[in-house]
Amino acid sequence: MIVGVPKEIKTAEHRVALVPAGAESLRGDGHSVLVEQGAGVGSGFADDAYRAVGATVVSTAAEVWAKAEMIVKVKEPIEPEWPGMRKGQVVFTYFHFAASEPLTRAVIQSGVIAIAYETVQLASGELPLLTPMSEVAGRMAVQEGAKYLEKVYGGSGILLGGVPGVLPAEVLILGGGVVGANAAKMAAGLAAHVTLLDLSLDRLRYLADVLPPNVDLLYSNRHNLLEQLHKADVVIGAVLLPGAKAPKLVRRDDLKVMKPGSVIVDVAVDQGGCIETTKPTTHEHPTYVVDGIIHYAVANMPGGVPRTSTLALTNATFPYAKRLARHGWKQACRDDGALFQGLNVIEGKVVYPAVAEAFGLPHADAKGLV
Ligand SMILES: NC(=O)c1ccc[n+]([C@@H]2O[C@H](COP(=O)([O-])OP(=O)(O)OC[C@H]3O[C@@H](n4cnc5c(N)ncnc54)[C@H](O)[C@@H]3O)[C@@H](O)[C@H]2O)c1
Repeated sequence: MIVGVPKEIKTAEHRVALVPAGAESLRGDGHSVLVEQGAGVGSGFADDAYRAVGATVVSTAAEVWAKAEMIVKVKEPIEPEWPGMRKGQVVFTYFHFAASEPLTRAVIQSGVIAIAYETVQLASGELPLLTPMSEVAGRMAVQEGAKYLEKVYGGSGILLGGVPGVLPAEVLILGGGVVGANAAKMAAGLAAHVTLLDLSLDRLRYLADVLPPNVDLLYSNRHNLLEQLHKADVVIGAVLLPGAKAPKLVRRDDLKVMKPGSVIVDVAVDQGGCIETTKPTTHEHPTYVVDGIIHYAVANMPGGVPRTSTLALTNATFPYAKRLARHGWKQACRDDGALFQGLNVIEGKVVYPAVAEAFGLPHADAKGLV
């Protein structure tokens, strides 16, 4: 099979969908790998690193799209990429169809087989191709919180871990899933005092076993939240209600009980945020201030650390890409229930119910098409 890797062209996207180690493995299986010139540079992989393992570096995206039987990408195809999609071609990437009707219609019209990272789902319910980005964002949330506490950034001037004789910062984490647990580990490791709220008692029990003693675990309700909020130096928003907007746990009026110069990092911003005053920001302009509280709400946090994010993402995506290349999409999806869940659009037919529902489109059963 010819596997193609175009350079990501969405603004400020520096990740790449295949690293040289992956290209080498595909070559070992007898596939051809076409990489667009410069595709890996933002993640620290020069064109020569791909050439050295037998991939072919080509100068234009058009050539990659025209020749590849399977395209592997990071972000959803954006408008300039739509004409490149063609009938029968597999496109394996994040799509987030429900967020864009024009993208959905372009993919339907193109006749590609769209397999979306975000809906690949294990029997346990876990979304293995979203998990690595949540791990990155959770860990990064603590770094960002610590940074914006510094006076020069307008923060209250508190060192996250304190020093002997001086108390550490209070970090309050809302939600103890992948983002929240990773944030708790990092903050606790830096010697902050951490309080984490979650609704799931099972999850709290698990976290109690795996997190260190400087993390307190509390059941999430409004009373407990308000009691913690006035002490917090950093608040990390990490709740998720699958498929729904994040609940607004911290209301605008609640900011008044917080200490001036405290920092809110609302990682859940991509689902609308769990703080009422959250609005999405970018890496170029990551923060704004409301009522003396610094808000950090970058919707694409992993994009700030593309080297780590590319490696974390491809560690998770590559085994699926390899199977798609080896067996073809039909067999690979028949063999692997998780990958089957990734099928969103097959040659013009929407097969993922939530996408069809979002735009009132007819829905076909994927089972009849693989
Ligand atoms: N900004 C970014 O760059 C970025 C990157 C990755 C993930 N995210 C977002 O971060 C959020 C969290 O992702 P995740 O992977 O950790 O999800 P997850 O499903 O692993 O965890 C969510 C947790 O929230 C808990 N929860 C739900 N309602 C709650 C409430 N009212 N109070 C307290 N806890 C509650 C759930 O019990 C669960 O443990 C999502 O919105 C995700 O899209 C953002």
